[in-house]
Amino acid sequence: MRRLLSLSRSVVGKKVIMAVSGLILFLFVVGHLLGNLKVFEGAEKFNAYAEGLRTVGAPFFGRGQLLWIARIALLVSLVAHVWAALGVTLASRQARPVGYRYLETSETTYAARTMRWGGVLIFLYVVYHLLDFTFGRLNPSFEPGNVYHNVLASFARWPVSAVYIAAMLVLGLHVYHGAWSALQTLGWHRPPTDRWRRGFAAAVAGVIAGGYITIPVAVLAGVLR
Ligand code: HEM
Repeated sequence: MRRLLSLSRSVVGKKVIMAVSGLILFLFVVGHLLGNLKVFEGAEKFNAYAEGLRTVGAPFFGRGQLLWIARIALLVSLVAHVWAALGVTLASRQARPVGYRYLETSETTYAARTMRWGGVLIFLYVVYHLLDFTFGRLNPSFEPGNVYHNVLASFARWPVSAVYIAAMLVLGLHVYHGAWSALQTLGWHRPPTDRWRRGFAAAVAGVIAGGYITIPVAVLAGVLR
C-alpha cells in the first residue's frame, strides 16, 4: 500500500495511472461503439440492447445493479485519469516555470500538443451527451426507454450532428496519442515495435472515430429513419 502511494506521487506513477485508467475508458469507448452500431439493426433491436444493459446479470443481480457497478468503475477511472493528467501537467510546469521562447516541435505531433485541451473538450462533450441521451434535458423529444427515437431525434438536427462529429474527431486524436503513449509507458517502445506503434494507434483511433461518425451521418443522409 505504501509503495502504491509513493508510486502515485511520482510522475512515472501518475503516467501509469493515466495509462491504466485510460485503458478502462478506452474499453468503454469500444464497447459503447459496438453497442451503438446496433442502431443499424433497427429500433426494436437497438432498444432491446439498451434494455439488456439494465437486466444483464439477472437473476444474480437486480435490475440496473451491474450497470451501476460499471458506471462507478467508469467514474473512478475518469477521476483518476483527470487527476493524473493534472498532476503531470503541474509537474512539468514546475520543472520549467518559464515557457519556451522557441519550441522545436519536430519531435512532437499535433495530437500530442492537443491532449490537454482535447481532454477538456471530450469532458464537456460527455456532459452534453448525458443531458441529451441519458437525462433527456437537451433532447428535442426525449422518450425514456426509446433510445432509437432519442438518437434519431437529436441527429436529425444538423448542428447537433456537427457537434457530435467534431467531438468524435477530437476523441480520435486523443485516442491516437493516448494509445501511442500508453504503449510507451507500458514498455512497448523497443526499436522493432516502435515503428508500427504509430500505425497501430492511428488505425485504432480511425476505426473508433469513423465508427461513431457513421451514425449521425446515416441519420442526416436518411439511411436511418
Ligand atoms: C455517435 C455517437 C454516440 C451515440 C449515438 C451514443 C449514444 C448513447 C446513448 C443512446 C446513450 C444512453 C443509453 C441508455 O440510456 O441506455 C449513451 C450514454 C452514454 N454515452 Fe454515448 N453515444 C455516442 C458516443 C459516445 C462517446 C464517444 C462517449 C465517450 C467519450 C460516450 C459516452 C457515454 C456515456 C458515459 C453514457 C452514459 C452511460 C450510462 O451511464 O448508462 N458516448 N450514449
